[in-house]
Amino acid sequence: MKTVIIGSSGFLDVLKAKVPARMWTLPTADDFTVQTMFLASNPVPTGNKGIVFTNTPGDWMKVAKAGWIVYWCSVEHSQRTPIGTVGLPDSYVDMSVATFIKTFWNIHVIDKRIVRDMILGIERTLAPLLPVTSNTGGVGKTTSCQRFGDRAAELGLHVLLVDGNIRQSSQRSFFDPLYDKPVRTIADWRPGMSPTRGANPGRMFNIRYDVAFAPPAGVLVDWLHYRRYLEEARKKWDFVILDLDRISADDLDDPDSIAGGLLTPYVLAGDPCLVIVKAGRQTQGDAMNLLSKFPECGFPKERIGIKDTIPVGLESYQQYDYSRYGLFFGAERQTIEAANHIANGDVQWKDPQLDYVRERILDWVMPDMGFNSEAYKPKPKRKGWFK
Ligand SMILES: Nc1ncnc2c1ncn2[C@@H]1O[C@H](COP(=O)(O)OP(=O)(O)OP(=O)(O)O)[C@@H](O)[C@H]1O
Ligand SMILES: [Mg+2]
Repeated sequence: MKTVIIGSSGFLDVLKAKVPARMWTLPTADDFTVQTMFLASNPVPTGNKGIVFTNTPGDWMKVAKAGWIVYWCSVEHSQRTPIGTVGLPDSYVDMSVATFIKTFWNIHVIDKRIVRDMILGIERTLAPLLPVTSNTGGVGKTTSCQRFGDRAAELGLHVLLVDGNIRQSSQRSFFDPLYDKPVRTIADWRPGMSPTRGANPGRMFNIRYDVAFAPPAGVLVDWLHYRRYLEEARKKWDFVILDLDRISADDLDDPDSIAGGLLTPYVLAGDPCLVIVKAGRQTQGDAMNLLSKFPECGFPKERIGIKDTIPVGLESYQQYDYSRYGLFFGAERQTIEAANHIANGDVQWKDPQLDYVRERILDWVMPDMGFNSEAYKPKPKRKGWFK
């Protein structure tokens, strides 16, 4: 496939900046007539594909006749594209810039803006999304997500926590253990509705962030539904946290699983992901298995956050080197006191064992929002006689 860019606009300039010039320029002068003459006299060989992205009006007919597909990338004349050109199909304009560049040039870049918005010149800021996952169960994903919500809301952000535990609906079990509250779930929302239709205001549970529960037992919702919901939620809330199930390395490229269907597309578009690892030889080894698949999947390591959870009673904690796969934010020590808080359904307890790592992670996801990890840094223990 040969792919050429001719013209200049917000969208085309982003492509030009992110794709090496040799992959889209022509060996001619930067002049429309010369360029179209060149393309017309270099027809696309049968069995090959030649694509031009442009917003320059002019005579494209002779280029089209030479077998080039000329995609018109501009809103002007969007109803009637200049003769010889065709509009970009919906499947392309719905892509993120990252996916678009991967599709046409097989290059990995981070840019989650949507092609349609860029062509229309809409600067839509999508709220940051933080999916939280792990390789083994019971590492504190559900609890950590709630604590992220508490802290971000404390700084004044309008936060939504989305429960992605399709099978066990963990957040519902925590906030509505008897399953007797009239709550909304993501299954109550349909495309076209406001995303509030799938969410519950935090005041229902005495918390400061809103919660969208997973569908009730027996109601099936696929990952596409989740993705559509999240896209809408990211326009409405300032920060969206996604409590995911555990995932395994094999799931990452299976589009029917949460990993391949939900997580992989987000991470490839530049969203972050937090992986929680339970300390212990076997559990850390299992986590390494998952993490070591990330580079193969094209996950950029600067978008992968990792934290260790040290279970109560584990003395021989050894920190692994995760630097090839992601950024390590520290280890959190679980305590019996915290376990009691969780069992009692408490929220918002101060926990010096957990607060520092949480603050560092939030500051990574949302820099310049006022998170201050220094303020939470554990003070070094005073040595010596007087404690
Ligand atoms: N900071 C903590 N201190 C002590 N115990 C904790 C802490 N965090 C979690 N736990 C314990 O671990 C249990 C599981 O926590 P949580 O539900 O947050 O994990 P999870 O990773 O979401 O689990 P699952 O894989 O089942 O979704 C809690 O019920 C609690 O008993
Ligand atoms: Mg959970």
